[in-house]
Amino acid sequence: MTDSGDRKKDWYKEMSFYQIWVRSFADGNGDGIGDLYGVYDKLEYVKRLGVDGIWFSPIYPSPNADFGYDISDYRNIHPDFGNLDQFKKVLNKAHSLGLKVIMDLVVNHTSDEHPWFIESCKGKDNPYSDYYIWRDKPNNWKSLFEGEAWEYNRERGQYYLHIFAKKQPDLNMDNPKVRQEVKDIMRFWLDMGVDGFREDVINFISKKEGLPDGIPFLPAVNGMPYYKDGPHIHEYLGEFRKVCQEYDCFQIGEGPMTTVKSAKKYLTGKTKSLDMMFSFDHMMADCIYTEYIHRPFSLVKLKKAFTKWQTALNGIGWNALYLENHDHPRIISRYGSELYWRESGTMLAASYIFQQGTPFIYQGQEIGMTNISLSSIDKYIDVSSHNNYKNVHTNEPERNRLKRIQMSSRDSSRTPMQWTPEKYAGFSTNKPWFYINHNYKTVNVETEDKDPNSILNFYRKCLSLRKEHEWLIYGRYR
Ligand code: GLC
Ligand code: CA
Repeated sequence: MTDSGDRKKDWYKEMSFYQIWVRSFADGNGDGIGDLYGVYDKLEYVKRLGVDGIWFSPIYPSPNADFGYDISDYRNIHPDFGNLDQFKKVLNKAHSLGLKVIMDLVVNHTSDEHPWFIESCKGKDNPYSDYYIWRDKPNNWKSLFEGEAWEYNRERGQYYLHIFAKKQPDLNMDNPKVRQEVKDIMRFWLDMGVDGFREDVINFISKKEGLPDGIPFLPAVNGMPYYKDGPHIHEYLGEFRKVCQEYDCFQIGEGPMTTVKSAKKYLTGKTKSLDMMFSFDHMMADCIYTEYIHRPFSLVKLKKAFTKWQTALNGIGWNALYLENHDHPRIISRYGSELYWRESGTMLAASYIFQQGTPFIYQGQEIGMTNISLSSIDKYIDVSSHNNYKNVHTNEPERNRLKRIQMSSRDSSRTPMQWTPEKYAGFSTNKPWFYINHNYKTVNVETEDKDPNSILNFYRKCLSLRKEHEWLIYGRYR
């Protein structure tokens, strides 16, 4: 890092965020599932870490086919997590502590249990008929999560598109009514006082007219050229941007497989519609698109990815910095070494927090949580892990397929947060909904809090240094 240059200052650039995946964060009412009562009690902890905002992964009602990323009601809270009143309490307390709150906006698809989809299935003369993408004859696209990208619906007598799981039908964003719904949903949360959105797979929402067939031999991603950065993407995001500009709010888009070149269109110039984007290049130093292909970790690939994004956006855009989230396994187990746990955890923290950009820290990352390794596929829950086990590397022996899941499953980042060395890691007073990592007796908040050389205290130090020295935020990367 060098000079602070003439880079434009914005409040979100000086922040850092903490991502909460509520189901595994803290259980406040003792049913084994994390909730907003638990979040409420832990807000001081989040504040003390030194972050300035929270991103909540989806907390809306959902049948949980994809743990909240399949939404059945955009204007409510999942009963497992509490209710709208409890959310408002969390929001107010967060604000009083000086923490911003951003919500996950998942509008590429809904749950198949969303009332819009239920109506849409009823027939072509229904008011919701064109809310989804229906065809008499499917194309050859594969879904990213569950076999073919099309599922037949008997009631309607047609196929619907689902880029993700079968229970996640894609919305038809070409329909102006659907875009109006999205804007109304945004206003609902902004009026309540939230500070912005993390926009899920936002570069997928505009599909190429005619939905042409993809390259047949490509697994899973064959349709991607026709739904990534689609023809109307900037127009649609421009509409959403306008709503946000009425509020002083902030937007970060998730951009799976996005390139520097296409990201610039979202982040700069006339088509600017997002403040930041989560890119994936640096997540592929040991894999290609999370679970599909695994390869040994390459430090060179990692450095190239960092350098590419830091250089390309310098002075014109702004990077989102992250190493973990609910979709990627734990970083110490991937890019570090569990044997050199403390060294790996602190080294990885320093490697990204001091780049130019806004750091995001995923729950548990700050205490160095590591991957779990379950002994059979049945013990894993994630829909994507099951898909990869069943459908993707079918010519390989089962042993190898399980190994890949153990290394790459999203479930590794979704084990309960480790708060104390006590029973159930202090996450709950009852048996938690999912496996706890066996290392919780040493890897936990209470123990690390007391140890000045812990990973937790190192994160705190990094974040406070970033606040003290502006050049750590606006400086150029070399
Ligand atoms: C995003 C989310 C992921 C989800 C997918 C489909 O990649 O981060 O968790 O499964 O979108 O909504
Ligand atoms: Ca609970």
